[in-house]
Amino acid sequence: MLAENDGPVIVRTRAELAETLPVTEALTAVVMTMGALHDGHRVLIDAARDRVSPGPVTVTIFVNPLQFGPGEDFERYPRSFEADVTVCRDEGVDVVFAPDVDEMYAGGQPEVTVDPGPLGAELDGAARPGHFAGVLTVVAKLLNMTVPSFAIFGEKDYQQLVLVRRMVRDLDMAQRIVGVPTVREPDGLALSSRNRYLRATERQVALSLSRALFAGAEAAPKGPDAVLAAGRQVLEQAPALDVDYFVLRDPELRTAPQTGEARLLVAGRVGGTRLIDNVPLTLG
Ligand code: PAF
Repeated sequence: MLAENDGPVIVRTRAELAETLPVTEALTAVVMTMGALHDGHRVLIDAARDRVSPGPVTVTIFVNPLQFGPGEDFERYPRSFEADVTVCRDEGVDVVFAPDVDEMYAGGQPEVTVDPGPLGAELDGAARPGHFAGVLTVVAKLLNMTVPSFAIFGEKDYQQLVLVRRMVRDLDMAQRIVGVPTVREPDGLALSSRNRYLRATERQVALSLSRALFAGAEAAPKGPDAVLAAGRQVLEQAPALDVDYFVLRDPELRTAPQTGEARLLVAGRVGGTRLIDNVPLTLG
């Protein structure tokens, strides 16, 4: 049974989850997170609620070791479980599923994983080998465990969203995947749990990412070359930003068109923190 008013039911094991999730004809939704919840997650939870009200909304909180490479920030990734539960309570979440690593990977390191295909080796996949196999594997597991009608993902991790959609399509999974636009600080910085790593000076440098995207989007009516030139001009003024990629693609992350819908994406490192961002645009 789900609690009525006392905040979400918190479950730690797949057995508890199976007992807790109501058998219902109603639509249900899941928001998958690694915790360190911020306003961007609140918007995802609201989107889940909008889709399924009054059906149950589940938030999963799991820092997935499989999607972190050697030397990445798995150990220091922010963990703030009590604060996360408060966010979930405020947002009327019904169930929080927060397994530990042994529960999630009960048989140890999985031998069978989801292959993200060629796109999984590009962009963030090129910088983080194995990352998207780790993401898709845990997303598939969490979909199987939570059995939602809808799974909600932020457009902030745009390549992840495209690959999750692709997995669901290619593997005939039943869930509907919903993408939600990125939430930004008033100055344009995309909300991210990793922003907590940034010192004030680094945060200023990080702003060049969104500024480059906005400059590119403004130039969109003039076509792809103008978009890239406008964005690069901004990035060149930020020598402390180590740009990993700044690319224009179509909405499925294939080659960019000359006109019509496209996606501009950027990734860069500020100090020890790798940040990503993207915007949609319409090429003229
Ligand atoms: O976007 C994230 O927070 C993670 O990649 C996800 C989808 C929860 C999988 O671990």
